[in-house]
Amino acid sequence: MFKIEIVPSILSADMTRLGEQVKEAEAAGADRVQVDVMDGRFVPNITFGPLVVGAVRRSTRLPVEAHLMIVEPERYVDEFAAAGADVIIVHQEAALHLHRTIQQIHQSGTKAGVAINPSTPAAMLEDVIGDVEHVLVMTVNPGFGGQKFIESTLHKIARVRQMIAERGLVCDVEVDGGINPTTAPRAVEAGANLLVAGDSIFNGGGGLEAAIRRLREGAGQ
Ligand code: DX5
Repeated sequence: MFKIEIVPSILSADMTRLGEQVKEAEAAGADRVQVDVMDGRFVPNITFGPLVVGAVRRSTRLPVEAHLMIVEPERYVDEFAAAGADVIIVHQEAALHLHRTIQQIHQSGTKAGVAINPSTPAAMLEDVIGDVEHVLVMTVNPGFGGQKFIESTLHKIARVRQMIAERGLVCDVEVDGGINPTTAPRAVEAGANLLVAGDSIFNGGGGLEAAIRRLREGAGQ
């Protein structure tokens, strides 16, 4: 029903050769790349900033997503847009004035995404889902790669997809965390069409092409 896209998260890539890994992921059939931005406050880890988004931008022709797991994301929207992000995803839990931040993302010339953590109900998106191109349902508590998929998020994926359908919207539903050939089909069946994966791609065994193929086959496409 929806074109399934495989989105390698660079969090699990080999940082000593990040540019090469991004190129390998593109050559291996990835549809877009996600940069997991973490500030050590919104999540208990510190990772990358606009500098790395720029480096990823220069390494691939694929769409680049900046997933901002940071407090007060409005402070950095323009910098991530200038660095070359095609999509900027902010967390509903971190954006005090979410509607204004979504406007800011669009004014910066990028697509807007909103992410919700496992404890955040889909209902929190009621009044912004019509303003974004992208909803990210976290299927782990954000901060680290290689965590276990949280089963209870499946109902939320379905609820978000239903909210989109009820409103006649065009909006991607992305899932992130613990996505592998076993969990991917369940997330797709629930309504996801963008599958973010770090560990199962970069540490899945057999190389990136085989890992991406396993995910795509698992997702039924
Ligand atoms: C938030 C991180 C991870 C990463 C993918 O914790 O952003 O979700 O993208 O993680 P895994 O390794 O589970 O695919």
